[in-house]
This record gives sequence, C-alpha cells and structure tokens, in this order.
Amino acid sequence: MTFSHPSSSPWRHAFPALAQQPHGKRLAYLDSAASAQKPLDVIQAQSRAMEQEYANVHRGAHWLAAQATEHYEAARSRVQRFVNAPHRHEVIFTSNATAAINLVANTFPFKPGDRVLVTKQEHHSNIVPWFLLRARIPDIQIDFVDLNPDDHTIDLADFARKLERSPALVAIAHVSNVLGIVNPVQTMVADAHRAGASVLIDGSQAAPHLPIDVQQLQADFYVFTGHKLYGPTGLGVLWGKEAWLDRMPPFLGGGEMIASVSTEGATWAELPYKFEAGTPAIIQAQAMHAAIDFYQSCDPAAVHRHEHLLAAYAEQALADRFDNRFRLHGPSFAGTTPATRAPVLSFSLYGGVASPVHHPHDLATLLDHEGVAVRAGNHCAEVLIECLAVPGTTRASIGMYNDKEDIDQLVEALGRADKLLGA
Ligand code: ALA
Repeated sequence: MTFSHPSSSPWRHAFPALAQQPHGKRLAYLDSAASAQKPLDVIQAQSRAMEQEYANVHRGAHWLAAQATEHYEAARSRVQRFVNAPHRHEVIFTSNATAAINLVANTFPFKPGDRVLVTKQEHHSNIVPWFLLRARIPDIQIDFVDLNPDDHTIDLADFARKLERSPALVAIAHVSNVLGIVNPVQTMVADAHRAGASVLIDGSQAAPHLPIDVQQLQADFYVFTGHKLYGPTGLGVLWGKEAWLDRMPPFLGGGEMIASVSTEGATWAELPYKFEAGTPAIIQAQAMHAAIDFYQSCDPAAVHRHEHLLAAYAEQALADRFDNRFRLHGPSFAGTTPATRAPVLSFSLYGGVASPVHHPHDLATLLDHEGVAVRAGNHCAEVLIECLAVPGTTRASIGMYNDKEDIDQLVEALGRADKLLGA
C-alpha cells in the first residue's frame, strides 16, 4: 500500500472494529497506547487456530498436535525475525510484558545489597516488580533517574551519576507510554554496560512505532506485548541473551518446563521451555504471528511516517484551537522524526480563570459521547505524573489506522467539552 498524506489511512479498512458507531458517532479511536485494534487477518488467524489447528503443543503424537506445535513454534521464529534475535530459543512467550519483567525480577541473579536503576518515566510494570524484589531480597536499593524539568526527557547527567553507584540492572522504557518520548536506549545500554550493569528494555510502546533490533541495541533483555502491536491479549515476549537465560532458574514450575521429575526433584527443560510452564498461549501465538505479518506487510517505515505526521498535525491543530490553554506534555513534535518521537499526545486543557484545568476524566467522558476514545488519568505511571505536577493527563495515542478526520473530530469534541466545562 502507498501513502502520501495523513488525511487518510490506507490501513483503516483492515480493522473491522473501527466501523462501529459509539453513541451514534463515527469512532475516532485514539487509545492505541492502551491497546491497539485488531486487523481482520489477526481475527481470522485466531479463529483458524481454534477451528482447524488446535490441540495442545509439544505433547501429543497425533496430527492436530503436530500441526499446533508447528504453528506455535513458527510464531516464535516470526518473533525472532521481528526483533532480529540471534537465536529462536532466546524468545520466551509470557502472558504479557508485565509478566516478562516479573520473570526477570524473580530470576536474575541478584544478591543482597544490589541496586536496580529505573527512570521516573517508567510504567508501573517497570517499577513495582523491583519493589517486590526489594521485599524479597535484603537491602536491594532502587534508584530513580530524574527527568529534565522542561520536557521530561531523561536527565542523562543524572543517569551517569546514578550509574556510578554500580547498579546490577538498569531497567528503562524504550518509549514512554505517557509522553511518547523515544529514549536514547542504545547509548544508555552502552553506558550501563561500561558501568558493569545489565540492561532490560521495556519495548511495549516501541514495538508498534520503531524498528526493533536487539542485536543493535545490545541490551540484555527486551520485552514487549502483542496487544499493542495489533495482536492478541494474553501474549507477551521476553527476549534475553542466552548467557543470562541459561544462568537464570525457572520462574514458574509445572508441566512443559521440566526435563524430568522424580520423587527427589526435577531437572529443567532446555531454553525456551524452561520459562514456559504449563499450557502456553497456543491460540494467541498464531494471532501474534498474523499481527507481525500484517504489520510488516504494511511497510512499517510508511506507517511510522504516517503516524508522526498525524501527531504533528494534532499538536498544531490543538494549539491553534486552544492557544496557550493547550499544553502538550513532553517535547513538541516540531523538529522530531518518527525515530525520536512516538505518536502519543498527553495534554492538559486549561479553562478560564474560574476553572484552571479541565479534569482529564471529565474531558475523556465528554469526548466519548462524541465518539472519541482517549485515555485519561495517570496511565499507570504515577511517578511520572507527579513530575508533571498535574492531576493526570488526557492522552490521545495514534495508531496506523488513524487519519486526519480522527484528529479533527478530537479537536471539535474538545471544543464542545471545553464550552460545557466552562472555558
Ligand atoms: N500501559 C497501557 C497504557 O499506557 C495500558 O495505557
């Protein structure tokens, strides 16, 4: 498919959910950072997996079990190619990105007194597992890298200072789920490695908007989730360097993850099965395969350009309409590229003197009545929201199916909400 202008999306028609009319209005779905809609290819792959190709995997001697196993493992190979992992056995399927981070938090060889370094931009899924680690192992220290006060990018000088405390692990978002900031993770990985730290990257918001190449990034672990990549819920990915995964013990125990079990104990299966206890997400794996195939067939570079142009248009349209009552959190799209700024607009809208800032939940509710789906609140990133010094934000996040009409609908709906709330 070719694309020349953000006024339309050549991919919108592939997503059946977008033809719906909430409250009798055209649906402007601007909540892809929370979860993306699914193309027909993914819906059909998931149906086919249940209708024709379903049995348990790795266990059965029969034809259907062989089919299901082949498809499940083909999905793993597809993910391997998607992130350019050196080995397919380094790709572990988990239930989501949160589970992938928890797996590392529970099995990485931390010692009492070790430090974990995260940033103040992180989603709760990259903070709370480290708090649980601290509750489990004595004297674990968790440091937070400060953000620059103007645009809330990572303060790299503070990062360098906190690396001097010799953390065992640095855990950072590739892209902020609230601000769409693309962090300079490649440089940060190199700096962390020089300081003797290993690195986990949370790529949940990056996978739909950036090329992912784990060999280029050189991190030790990279996690992402299927449902933000136009794929299924219930399936996330942990990629890890073989040397680490070999050293780490299993996280969950049960079937599939063992080599043998006796009354004396058990031995572990080889990678990746050591980390995949129980019946895995067989159906979702096929949907993930279809999602990656679909996304790659759409020319990801064109998708990223489309989304970025649309986000820049949205920033301009909102600033034109509301002037200095509109405040975009994070850097402006001006002067950025898809490689440096992801299409997420977290903003505050200020009312008149009597009504300083419209509450994001009020805005999101009023927008919903106009068919506009956005997310409001702290976006599972309370530490970041505290840095922004607002009660929460209204977040419009853009996916490949969005078009200029969605943005115009957002601006018009916000105008009406603004009037109702008292501009
Ligand atoms: N992490 C998802 C979001 O940012 C749910 O909305």
